[in-house]
Amino acid sequence: MKLLDEKVGIVTGAGGGIGRCVALALTAAGAAVVVSDIRQAAADETVALIRQAGGEAIAVVGDISEEADWVRLVAATIERFGAVDILVNNAAAASFKDRDILSMDVAVWDAAMRINLRGPMLGCKHVLAAMLQQGGGAIINIASGAALTGQLSQPAYGAAKAATISLTRSVATLYGKQGIRCNAIAPGLIMHEGLAAFFPEEHIRIDSDNLLTPHPANPRTSPTPWSSSPRRIPASSMPRCCRWTAACSPTRRAMPRPGRSAWAASAMSASRRRKASLISLHS
Ligand SMILES: NC(=O)c1ccc[n+]([C@@H]2O[C@H](COP(=O)([O-])OP(=O)(O)OC[C@H]3O[C@@H](n4cnc5c(N)ncnc54)[C@H](O)[C@@H]3O)[C@@H](O)[C@H]2O)c1
Repeated sequence: MKLLDEKVGIVTGAGGGIGRCVALALTAAGAAVVVSDIRQAAADETVALIRQAGGEAIAVVGDISEEADWVRLVAATIERFGAVDILVNNAAAASFKDRDILSMDVAVWDAAMRINLRGPMLGCKHVLAAMLQQGGGAIINIASGAALTGQLSQPAYGAAKAATISLTRSVATLYGKQGIRCNAIAPGLIMHEGLAAFFPEEHIRIDSDNLLTPHPANPRTSPTPWSSSPRRIPASSMPRCCRWTAACSPTRRAMPRPGRSAWAASAMSASRRRKASLISLHS
């Protein structure tokens, strides 16, 4: 018996990157997955990978910012699997034109909000209706470290992701008593082929130099104070394509800061460490 046997999940943006890893991880844990992406061929590829690994999945193409596509996606999920227990609102888009406020083109701002905020909201709206009917479910919104820190690039993306965290809190508060769990995950920079091909080298350098989450190319991250922490998910237990990600992205965001004894605070509880990290960001 696996943890997610008989559960059904929808993962948006599962045609590549983190979404594909999440879809593979869910199916490895026993869930059936609806792989959704705006790119049909990429979604089909993920489904093929899942089936090769013995999992169950179908592909449904769609644009997360279009309400009609969500109606279609939920209907296709219920028709094929009879329920939806998990939604991973993962699809998003960043633009290298989203550089700073002075040069901000409102079209770039609007596109960031449309995909990165309206998309997850529509996902919550349509999947919630199905989950409430069946008595509960879990929604995971993929936010970003960019939502929590000031950064030297991507202000529109960061604002949309910050609003996604607020959306998460609203959903959890509004529907928690009806059996809905809603959580957000804020990854740090996670390099993969798709991202490297899209972003100019300079953009990646700025991000990796300024994000708090470790990145292998960033000297600040070596060694991470909790690299041997037993709370980390062992890379060997994750699908192959996740290992690189697992190696560079800790489950907690706090990083040692100059003048702070390499987390002598490692004795601190996770929640105190998180608080300390946020306080230091705002001071
Ligand atoms: N990679 C990182 O460093 C990083 C860091 C923080 C947060 N995140 C977040 O993690 C999630 C996944 O990131 P990633 O790097 O794997 O992204 P990615 O760009 O590699 O993949 C995103 C997927 O979403 C799909 N997509 C894009 N627009 C869509 C739309 N309108 N409708 C449906 N699908 C669409 C793309 O086709 C792609 O397959 C995103 O929410 C992203 O903001 C990523």
